[in-house]
Amino acid sequence: MRIQAAILRDPAKPFVIEDVELDEPGLGEVLVRVVGAGMCHTDVLYRMFPELAMPMVFGHEGSGVVEAVGPGVTRVKPGDHVVMSYDSCGWCAQCLAGTPPYCDEFMARNVSGLRIDGTTGTTDLAGEQVAARWFGQSSFATHAIATERNVVAVDAALPLETLGPLGCGLQTGAGSVLIAMGVRPASSIAVFGTGAVGLAAVMAARVAGAAEIIAVDLHPARRELALELGATRAIDGADPDLAGAVGQVDYSFDTTGVPAVMSTAVGVLRPGGLCGLVGAGGGELTLQPELCAGRNVRYILEGEAVPQLFIPQLITLWEQGRFPFERLIRTYRLDQINDAERDSADGTTIKPVLLPGA
Ligand SMILES: NC(=O)c1ccc[n+]([C@@H]2O[C@H](COP(=O)([O-])OP(=O)(O)OC[C@H]3O[C@@H](n4cnc5c(N)ncnc54)[C@H](O)[C@@H]3O)[C@@H](O)[C@H]2O)c1
Ligand SMILES: [Zn+2]
Ligand SMILES: [Zn+2]
Repeated sequence: MRIQAAILRDPAKPFVIEDVELDEPGLGEVLVRVVGAGMCHTDVLYRMFPELAMPMVFGHEGSGVVEAVGPGVTRVKPGDHVVMSYDSCGWCAQCLAGTPPYCDEFMARNVSGLRIDGTTGTTDLAGEQVAARWFGQSSFATHAIATERNVVAVDAALPLETLGPLGCGLQTGAGSVLIAMGVRPASSIAVFGTGAVGLAAVMAARVAGAAEIIAVDLHPARRELALELGATRAIDGADPDLAGAVGQVDYSFDTTGVPAVMSTAVGVLRPGGLCGLVGAGGGELTLQPELCAGRNVRYILEGEAVPQLFIPQLITLWEQGRFPFERLIRTYRLDQINDAERDSADGTTIKPVLLPGA
């Protein structure tokens, strides 16, 4: 079928809106009419990796309505409202153990832009293949082909257009705190970088009952919002004595991906403490061995969350008023995608959500 998609043809150039041809959903696949698509920093990070398959349709926080299902799909049906999350195989040791973010096929299914068999099911009007399986969806488009395994059915009464970010950024921040790090009541946590992932972590730390929640960011408006969402203290990331200003904490969480900030995040831990890292693309992390004495460091993917279990839990927290993630969102039409990227990069918008139907 003919759809519209935002395509990145050259990592140095803006996204362009084009008509493309999408195949029918194949075995285990689901055709989704995209209603909303969050922009995660990971969607633009790949401008730094020109070797990636191009042209590519990005977008991995989609929400929408199932329009058709391929052979073998039984868990969702046309008309169902869904959030699209990351994809996994379901059968490797990690998937079976309940940690699908560490699936043997995570990279192949999520960051290649291709199906596991190397096809994409998508061509441009010149007949050239377009990579359109980014995180099992490529949702910067009017329609996306996902898999039965990476869609999460949600109640049709919910505001579907803003639910997409639950599929990656919000799940990553909240899951890192509640699942991967298991932040305990009355503990202390420092969150470095309070964009979408960091603010989700701040809200989750409050849900977990942390007594001290320290938010660090370069943008005053983000620090202000962090305080409103549950942080007990906010610190300028440019503070020349950042470690001293933070003090010692039980948990630290880095979303900046900046090596110097990551080593500060390790350095502020109490012995026995745990530092979760999620930031990507900032370069290599160098750690003094002594800095790690008795401390733990873990790189976390997707909050270690199982989307079908965790996304409904986040929705419940939102209904209770304890996870007001709509405060991070600003919406754009699909053809405003380059404005959305600019506003995210300069700190104006925390979580852009594209509305392909608008
Ligand atoms: N591991 C995963 O599974 C996973 C999932 C989603 C996103 N990510 C990654 O997480 C990171 C955060 O994503 P996001 O969407 O929240 O991005 P974002 O750009 O909205 O947030 C990053 C924040 O860090 C702040 N920051 C940058 N440098 C800083 C410094 N020196 N000191 C203090 N603050 C600083 C920025 O001001 C910004 O608010 C990205 O690198 C993204 O690629 C990882
Ligand atoms: Zn697997
Ligand atoms: Zn993401």
